[in-house]
Amino acid sequence: MDMREMEDETRGRKDAPPLRITINGDYEEYYVDPSMRLVDFLRDYLGMTGTKISCEIGRCGACSVLVDEVLMNACLLNVYQVAGKSIQTIEGLKGEKALHPIQESFLKDGGFQCGYCTPGMVMAVQALLAEYPEPTEVQIREGLSGNLCRCTGYGGIIRAVKRAARELRQVKI
Ligand code: FES
Ligand code: FES
Repeated sequence: MDMREMEDETRGRKDAPPLRITINGDYEEYYVDPSMRLVDFLRDYLGMTGTKISCEIGRCGACSVLVDEVLMNACLLNVYQVAGKSIQTIEGLKGEKALHPIQESFLKDGGFQCGYCTPGMVMAVQALLAEYPEPTEVQIREGLSGNLCRCTGYGGIIRAVKRAARELRQVKI
């Protein structure tokens, strides 16, 4: 469905109650098909294409977002399931500089090659470091076990997570 068809469909649903969702801190009411997948809502309706689609069956993590701070696969959720909730996508990740320390660390340590997995990977790292500010290597591997990368071999990603953890701890001190 392209953007115009989606807007036509949306107009047809003005009589239905809106879905109230907070996305990257912005609360809005949306008149959309509640059965639309969250990943399509983000990408096609809102134009937030940072969240990627790959396997579409919850195996790769490319579509990872935070829903009320819990890491979830946006390809497995319908929009009605996130009504009243707060979503964070890669577009909402902000640091004091242009990039968030997690993104800076991925750059410095070669944590990506093609980059397709990277937005989902970064969201997974954010969830991991919120739970374990000083993660062990086992915790890092477990935290990223739902996010597949075909390019890097994971060495750079794990180094990047360790660097990000160090830098975020310094910011908080
Ligand atoms: S596209 Fe959602 S988990 Fe792969
Ligand atoms: S950098 Fe290419 S899939 Fe991860």
